[in-house]
Amino acid sequence: MKDKIFAGLLLLSILLQGCDNQTTQASTAGNDTERKIDALLKQMTLEEKVGQMNQISFSGENGKVRELVCKGEVGSILNITDPDMINSLQQVAMEESRLKIPLIIGRDVIHGFKTIFPIPLGQAASFDPQLIEDGARIAAIEAASTGINWTFAPMIDIARDPRWGRIAESLGEDPYLTSVLGAAMIKGFQTDELDGPTAIAACPKHFVGYGAAEAGKDYNSTFIPERLLRNVYLPSFEAAVKAGAATFMTSFNDNNGVPSSGNKFILDQVLRKEWAFDGFVVSDWTSIAEMISHGFCKDGKEAAEKAVNAGVDMDMVSELYVKHLKELLQEGKVKQSTIDDAVRSILRIKFRLGLFDNPYISTDAKEVIYAEEHLQKAKEAAIESAILLKNEANILPLGDHIKTIAVIGPMADAPHDQLGTWIFDGDKNHTVTPLKALQQQYGDKIRILYTQGTAYSRDMETNGIPAAVSIARSADIVLAFVGEESILSGEAHSLSNLNLQGVQSELIEAVAKTGTPVVTIVMAGRPLTIGRDAEHSKAVLFNFHPGTMGGPAIADLLFGKAVPGGKLPVTFPKTVGQIPLYYAHNNTGRPYQGGETLLNDIPSEAGQTSLGNTSFHLDAGVEPLYPFGYGLSYTTFEYSNLRLSNTQMTASDVLNVSVDITNTGNYDATEIAQLYVQDCFASVTRPVKELKRFDHIPLKAGEKKTTTFTLPIAELAFYNIDMKKIVEPGDFNLWVGPNSQEGLKASFVVN
Ligand code: BGC
Repeated sequence: MKDKIFAGLLLLSILLQGCDNQTTQASTAGNDTERKIDALLKQMTLEEKVGQMNQISFSGENGKVRELVCKGEVGSILNITDPDMINSLQQVAMEESRLKIPLIIGRDVIHGFKTIFPIPLGQAASFDPQLIEDGARIAAIEAASTGINWTFAPMIDIARDPRWGRIAESLGEDPYLTSVLGAAMIKGFQTDELDGPTAIAACPKHFVGYGAAEAGKDYNSTFIPERLLRNVYLPSFEAAVKAGAATFMTSFNDNNGVPSSGNKFILDQVLRKEWAFDGFVVSDWTSIAEMISHGFCKDGKEAAEKAVNAGVDMDMVSELYVKHLKELLQEGKVKQSTIDDAVRSILRIKFRLGLFDNPYISTDAKEVIYAEEHLQKAKEAAIESAILLKNEANILPLGDHIKTIAVIGPMADAPHDQLGTWIFDGDKNHTVTPLKALQQQYGDKIRILYTQGTAYSRDMETNGIPAAVSIARSADIVLAFVGEESILSGEAHSLSNLNLQGVQSELIEAVAKTGTPVVTIVMAGRPLTIGRDAEHSKAVLFNFHPGTMGGPAIADLLFGKAVPGGKLPVTFPKTVGQIPLYYAHNNTGRPYQGGETLLNDIPSEAGQTSLGNTSFHLDAGVEPLYPFGYGLSYTTFEYSNLRLSNTQMTASDVLNVSVDITNTGNYDATEIAQLYVQDCFASVTRPVKELKRFDHIPLKAGEKKTTTFTLPIAELAFYNIDMKKIVEPGDFNLWVGPNSQEGLKASFVVN
């Protein structure tokens, strides 16, 4: 039966192709797919069409799922990972259902499938698109080997609030960095050939604004005006469309009163009309039904109507399309063409994935899962993702004089927690923890003493601290592994307090009092307010949950086999009260000047005054704990001789910016140089700085290199007072440096 239909479709497409021998090969293939889709659509009943728009979650083998697939009433299943079960359901779709339309199998493969890479926020700290592409490639290879052909990633929400648990899953606070890295991740998942055996469809999410949840509370409302939406929250999604993303997912939040799953402006106007996206849009989990709780729809029927008319093609598990689309069509509230367009987009991706031709799993999972090269890449990623925040007197890397180390803290040997959030398929039995790695690599040369001090990150029990103090006394150095359990970040896990949980700070303080130097190694899902802990530590190495190979990566970093080079993809606040705190803020009319009177400088009974005062917190100033882009190395770098190819530019010119960077220390290392631009005066106020380029510069000790950034002036365009994306003429400042606060400065003019 299946063969007959395909033979028929093939014949039809050959006949049609014969009429049009002028087209290029690529567009012929595209036209061919469109013809196949049209042919299928003509044969489909309304139930079968709505079936394609219905995604269900697999809840174990039962006759009901097979029956739905057989009747063509389900187009996609998520959360099924047993290859035999996937093949068997696919077989029902391909051999028993009337039209033989394959299922698309979705799963959250977020930072690795089995081999777990650092959480996305950690990967972002590498500022390394190739590394991120490689990580996604490996995740796709492993996931595809079990029959998954669609991942709900990358998450490219701009995340400027570390209280929000899902910041862990983001690529940080910056639109440019997120755009570049998100596109790299899409390329890694999809490759250039979506129908390749190991390619899986990407699903950039959550469209849009989800990261701006008020108070960092997950699912909360957002209020992002259109200009900010276009300048900050949309660019990473536009870059995802340009990178060829096959699908999109809507977000849970309502923005300015409109939930994303019912937002025609973003789904139809922006995504389809302005960006010409031709893949399909899936809702987030029950987000169509949740429009009732939002108070945007009175019942499931209205929710289905608003979602489909806004442009949500597939309903993730609400089952409201299945329940209501037929009636809505009969009542004229939904047009047939709307349903056809949705089905067309879904079938298009199924064709592009090659699922009609190769619906079954073709790789043997045993060969690729936890393959040695995957583990090595995961280790490399964990190394590149680590950020050295402090290194007083170059205490790191640890030298030969270290004979005894005291390993303490709840994260030293926490195989589950170092994997981070969203690791449905990860297995802690494959994790190598820092304790294990240190014992394996250095156990025969160095005395390693170990006690947790506190059992898990939230543990309030202090009676383990004396044992930690005792081993600290006998050691040359303390390695304190602290941070967050994985469950403290991720979806629905927001926090209002970002200090180290439990008694971890007390533990660090107690061991520091022994006089033995403390190196604090943090593993967490978000930026933490660790100022107090950093003060008690000689060095701080921050790792966003580093994944399966975090242990060996950290061991190599501590002992200098690898040199840290990661940079913060997000600002670290000193206190929660400073949030939102991000580097690319606008200036007020009274910008902070430095040297302002802080809380403790104010005399008692001081008279009311506002004149001359600037925008800052009396108790925190304006400075973050660590700025965006910040990260130290074991070596030092010097920037010099910044020069521009021209200082008088037009919007069509390309600016070349050159700078010399010298490795002035003793280690071969890589510097991530960053270029920021400020549009000084415009029709609307502009950020004080925006990242526009970054580059990795490997330098041997003592070596000096010139690096040149190429910046088309057109990339300085923004949505202006008339909501037009243009480069406005005027003065610009430019910085090249090691982070968002330091750097050499130059200026240019756009005429
Ligand atoms: C999350 C999505 C995820 C989906 C499917 C939702 O709760 O917000 O990011 O892809 O579940 O698991």
